[in-house]
Amino acid sequence: MSENLNNENKKVIFSGIQPSGDLTLGNYLGALKNWVKLQDDYDCYFCIVDLHAITVRQKPADLRRRSLELLSIYIAAGISPEKNTLFIQSHVPAHAECSWLLTCNTYMGELSRMTQYKDKSQKMGSSIGVGLFNYPSLMAADILLYNTDLVPVGKDQTQHLELTRDIATRFNSTYSDTFKIPEGYIPKEGAKIMDLQEPLKKMSKSSDNPNSIILIMDPPEVIRKKISRAVTDSLGIVNYTDDQPGVKNLLNILSAIKRTSPEELVSYYKGKGYSDLKSDVADAVVAELEPIQKKVQELLKDKSYLESIYKEGAQKASYVANKTLRKMQKKIGMIPR
Ligand code: TYM
Repeated sequence: MSENLNNENKKVIFSGIQPSGDLTLGNYLGALKNWVKLQDDYDCYFCIVDLHAITVRQKPADLRRRSLELLSIYIAAGISPEKNTLFIQSHVPAHAECSWLLTCNTYMGELSRMTQYKDKSQKMGSSIGVGLFNYPSLMAADILLYNTDLVPVGKDQTQHLELTRDIATRFNSTYSDTFKIPEGYIPKEGAKIMDLQEPLKKMSKSSDNPNSIILIMDPPEVIRKKISRAVTDSLGIVNYTDDQPGVKNLLNILSAIKRTSPEELVSYYKGKGYSDLKSDVADAVVAELEPIQKKVQELLKDKSYLESIYKEGAQKASYVANKTLRKMQKKIGMIPR
């Protein structure tokens, strides 16, 4: 009870990751690592957004495996199931319902402008699903259902967040004050980890080239190999500049893990070469991920523990989400059940 009272005074955080591919170092440094830092000061909802994942076709067995693995990764990375609400999006039907209500208050033009939609639709052509188009209004529902103050995400989600704010503002002005207008929380370091082979592109779980991405569950020797093969340049000087995107990315990774600024790192590597930098990055990544991997393996053996966490999480989340949903329905003019 005292914890509940406490939570009421704390600001609210909502964030989520899609179980749409094996998690990358980008997801870890752009999102998860910061969630761990924030959990003591906020009332946090961390979601496994499986409804978002199915906007692209998923093999059922993979989706099931990845959803549980993702929950284990949350916990193994240091997110406490006692302090926070950890749940699976599809277990709280209010998300899909709220998403429909928001979809009816969102414009085609707004959704068509989303760069992630434009990128994916270019790749997929006419087989692009309607769910992918609507994706941002489901994301807005996730965030707005919990009266969220802060949304900790990587840089790639800024446009979706802006749209969430626009949708909330529009709903408030159409139907009277309903939603808090959430702010984004983009980390200083690690906000955009790039592809190791094409460092002008974001590191992405959906990449076709395994050498381009580091997976959270990659064994140490694989991590070392991928980092040693990371594309750099022929200058041979460690600088933090857009002209050396490969080196810049390695510095960003090291900086996010060590919490040392890239500028300090540059002065440390004065007179040293790329192989020193790469070997330090590899050591740091392995040291960061190895304990998480061990914990994940342990957690995955105890399915009933994981089940107890996501069931309790869904219950706690449903309570808050349903209250907001009822409020929306009433304002829109729906008859209370
Ligand atoms: P998703 O699953 O693509 O990514 C999860 C989180 O990882 C961050 N991220 C990165 N950060 C740094 N460098 C990268 N290369 C990198 N790749 C991914 C993302 O910014 C994100 O924070 N739409 C969201 C999931 C979502 C959500 C939400 C997030 C659904 N509902 C509500 C916040 C609030 C997404 O696609 O995440």
